[in-house]
Formats: sequence, structure tokens, C-alpha cells
Amino acid sequence: MNTVTVSAPGKLLLLGDHAVVYGYPLLVTSVNQRLHLKATLLNDALFQLEAPDVNVHNLSKTMHEIGRGEIIKGASYIERGLINFMLKYPFKGGVKIETQSEFSSQFGFGSSSASIVSLIKAMAVLIGVNLDNKELFDISYKTLIDVAGIGSGFDLAAAIYGGVIFYITPGKVIESVKVESLSLVVGYTGVKVNTASVVREVAELRTQKKEFVDTQLKLIGEYVQSVKQAIMKKDWAFVGSLMNKNQEVLERLGVSSPKLDALIGAARKAGAYGAKLSGAGRGDCMIALVSSEKKQLVSEAITSAGGQIIPIETNAAGVVVE
Ligand code: PMV
Repeated sequence: MNTVTVSAPGKLLLLGDHAVVYGYPLLVTSVNQRLHLKATLLNDALFQLEAPDVNVHNLSKTMHEIGRGEIIKGASYIERGLINFMLKYPFKGGVKIETQSEFSSQFGFGSSSASIVSLIKAMAVLIGVNLDNKELFDISYKTLIDVAGIGSGFDLAAAIYGGVIFYITPGKVIESVKVESLSLVVGYTGVKVNTASVVREVAELRTQKKEFVDTQLKLIGEYVQSVKQAIMKKDWAFVGSLMNKNQEVLERLGVSSPKLDALIGAARKAGAYGAKLSGAGRGDCMIALVSSEKKQLVSEAITSAGGQIIPIETNAAGVVVE
């Protein structure tokens, strides 16, 4: 085989934001917007990349040059992922990579993680290596840490396994939570967030107020455990109430924002079971859990408050060869 196309889903963090970095569990769902990656083996030892969604056009260098010198931001995960793959599975010749995403890299849906996972999977298929999901996770996680320096890796788990996942970093627990789908409304704030810098701010706050921050993180961990059970029982009112409590903790940690607060407040007022930010905070998206009767009203309320509705379905399949 000379060419393969692979796709992996984006994700939304349901509960457990930030606390996951400190060893507490988290709940994440994959979404039905996917990143597609086509990989083609080349006879010459060249690396070529076309990733228009992250402004990479006609990138071409020798295989020897990947990961060296000045690396374009949009190419960093792919270049590092390829290096990490080759450390375990060297191959001759080169490769051309083309990516195309169904979702904007601005949303915080995890496009970098979906591209790392797709790349490693595609390379394994092309050179005939049988990678299991755990090894796929491990190479992907190393790549994430090499480039970003920090991160729990939950988005990699969502991209690999799909569905709703109960996760403990770094892939210590990756457990599928049985639920058909979650009725979520997603509101984008229009603000792109640098996850690593918000994670570092929480770490900084923790050095100043360790006891306070640790108490908050522990609370989040407890909410996640309770919600895992409640999701399986479809007790949406309870899940929603703990989403609200999780949001309160994130506000106390200082990672919400006036725009997020406005969208979350509007969603609750319009009858959502619960609403919270999703991810690092400060921007990106908020999520609201709703009944089917309230979906329209909640969507309109978020729009009126200045949010952009991103239509998604939860529980998409994990990485697949197309
Ligand atoms: O901003 P996102 O969607 O990449 O999520 C970040 C979630 C954090 O818990 C804050 C960090 C992490 O790596 O888990």
C-alpha cells in the first residue's frame, strides 16, 4: 500500500477540566466532526505537508530536516509525531501528508491531537506495523509532551477510542462509558485560547495557594466520579447540576471569562440541565446539557448572548482507516 487516509474525531471535555492534570479523573466525549489525514509514501527521502486548516501550504524538506531548525507552528505536531514514530519504526524513503479538518482549529476541539493520532495510525498502516491502541496512545502522548510541554492527553484518548471516556492521565485509565448519546448544545465564544498558558496559570496559583487549589481540584474529581454513574443511569438533571458545580469551581480557580459566564448564564436561564466551560477556559467553547424540548430555546439564548452554535453529535467513532 502506498497511500492511506485515516480520520479521527474532535472532542469536548465534559467534566474534570484542569483537575485531570493533577491526577483526578475526567470525562470526555468524541464529536462527529473529524480530521482527515492522507499519507503517501515517497521514493525520495522527502517530507511534504499540506495542512491548509493550520496555514501550512506546500511545505517540503528532506526527511533529515524534519524537527530541526525553525519549525512552522502548524507543522510542529506532524513533524514531531513522525520523528517519534520513526524512532520505533524506521522506514526508507519519504512521506507526503495532507490534512483536512471538518472543524476549525480555533474551537478547541483538539485538532492537534486528532492530527497526531491520525498521523501515527496512517504511518503504521502504510509500513505494515500492527499498532495496538495503547501503543498508538503512547507515541501520540510523547509527541504532545515534546511539542506542548504539558497536557493530560485526554484528547488523544478521545481521538483514538471515540465515545464517552473516563480518563486518568497519562492514559493510566481509559474506560469507555456506556451511553448512546448526550444532548449537548455547544457555544463558541469566538476567543481562541492557549491551553498550555492557562494550565500554567493554575499551576502558578497552586504554588501560592496550595491548600485552596487542591481542595477545588479534589471537588472536581468527586463530581466526575458521580457523573460517570449518573450518565449511565441517564439522570440528566443530576449530571446538569454537577456540571454547574464544576463550573463554579472553575470560576473560583479564575479560568472562566465574562463571555463564557454570559453564554453559560443564558443557557441555564433558557432551561438547560446544566452548563459549563469545556477545556482550559478563558474562551473556546461552553457546553450545555439539554432535553430535546429545550434544545432550540437554549441555542437561541446562547446566540443572543453573543455565542456561535457549533452543531455536533457526541459519541463519534475513534480513529478509522477510511
Ligand atoms: O483547552 P483544551 O480543550 O485543550 O482542554 C484543556 C484541558 C485541561 O485539563 C485544562 C488541560 C489538559 O491537558 O487536560
